[in-house]
Amino acid sequence: MHNKLKKLQVAIFISGRGSNLESLIQSSFTKQSLVEVQLVVSNNSKAKGLTIAKKNKIPFIHFIPRKNFENKVMKYLKNIDIICLAGFMQVLDSKFVRHWQSRLINIHPSYLPAFKGLNAQDQAIKAKASYSGCSVHYVSTKIDSGKIILQKKVKILKKDNTESLSKKILIEEHKVYPKALQMVAKTLLTRQQ
Ligand code: GAR
Repeated sequence: MHNKLKKLQVAIFISGRGSNLESLIQSSFTKQSLVEVQLVVSNNSKAKGLTIAKKNKIPFIHFIPRKNFENKVMKYLKNIDIICLAGFMQVLDSKFVRHWQSRLINIHPSYLPAFKGLNAQDQAIKAKASYSGCSVHYVSTKIDSGKIILQKKVKILKKDNTESLSKKILIEEHKVYPKALQMVAKTLLTRQQ
């Protein structure tokens, strides 16, 4: 008898472009993937990422305005095991964060704990840092402060500006996020056994 492993169900929250969404979806299509992307949630009806969900035939919803977002979205997450924030530019309330503890992850475009918050790439350039990077971390009630799952450094050259650094970091984000998601899925599956 061959028992097919049940894949963990993932919801991805976005606000804009959705390039990390795309890389997470593509990597979920590989045979070894432990996850399936079941739902895309946006807090912006004009997010470009929604067209990526459509193209890949993944159900999506969007909520506006911000008010009561967490309560409204909860009923769509009944079969979801993991939530990935991918360029989701809204702070989730602490009740929601606690409910999803160890199943809610985020990618941030810096080598945390440096340059938390908005415009992390710009912060790194302005600080004249010699490197920055990207970090995938568990979401905690303090912004960009949860336990790190995986991170990658990116060198900053003298000629770099915010745009060129963002591009270099994004290339790494697209590799790091799918890997980190598999690590989280593995941890959860091991716990379930
Ligand atoms: C990414 O660089 C992501 O790390 C960043 O927004 C961008 C979204 O791009 N997230 C944050 O700054 C969160 N604080 P994408 O929509 O193409 O994935």
